[in-house]
Amino acid sequence: MGKPLIAGNWKMHGTAESARKLATEVSHHNAQETAAEIIIFPPLVHISAVSDALSDSSISVGAQNVSQYSNGAYTGEVSAEMLLDQGCKYVLVGHSERRAILGESDQTVAEKFRAAQNAGLIPILCVGESLQQRQQDATLEVVAKQISAVIDLVGLDRVCQSVIAYEPVWAIGTGETASPEQAQDVHAVIRTQLGEAGRSTTLLYGGSVNKSNAAELFKQPDIDGGLVGGASLEADEFLNIAQLVEA
Ligand code: 13P
Repeated sequence: MGKPLIAGNWKMHGTAESARKLATEVSHHNAQETAAEIIIFPPLVHISAVSDALSDSSISVGAQNVSQYSNGAYTGEVSAEMLLDQGCKYVLVGHSERRAILGESDQTVAEKFRAAQNAGLIPILCVGESLQQRQQDATLEVVAKQISAVIDLVGLDRVCQSVIAYEPVWAIGTGETASPEQAQDVHAVIRTQLGEAGRSTTLLYGGSVNKSNAAELFKQPDIDGGLVGGASLEADEFLNIAQLVEA
């Protein structure tokens, strides 16, 4: 069992004003109603507006991406140090959209993980198989390889100090979720890969999580919370999901 978390990945949506409004709505939640730490991942340019809106709440802020490089001549990049300075506590690394659409390799993802952790951010390492890989029975191999690439670079102990999110690509934005059993099977194998030190690592499930399917997913012994995309863009829906995370 890891510490319970619920994360909202807003992806590339919203204006500064709508981001501030949504963050304010989420901040009006009753902290007693969820066992989980709540984290919001706004688009980069809205991080400071969201951090301001959440300054009196217990909700954390994270970034959706980070450079693998420290400050320097890297036009267009944003370093982990800068994210920390903007109030971020977490950062997503290796989201499947960045792997598939923006061409991030396992090696790049591992370097981003290292840069984030070196600066004091908590990386949420996203892993998951495509539909084709699942149909070829390659799910466990794909996920293990994505995690191993990071272990090879930073060592097992440092990976165990992060958060891992299992997000099957075929379940992202499709309305189709992994069944609780399918998700638990993968989470159990991830937990085994992490060994003794991974017993308290937080493992999240992501992929079309909504308030109707979240309870069954969060009941699974190796699912410590969720990484929510579309359903996090509506405050009530997101907070309803947050209430279903088990202590
Ligand atoms: P959806 O919840 O929209 O499927 O997105 C999941 C996701 O990619 C979260 O990072």
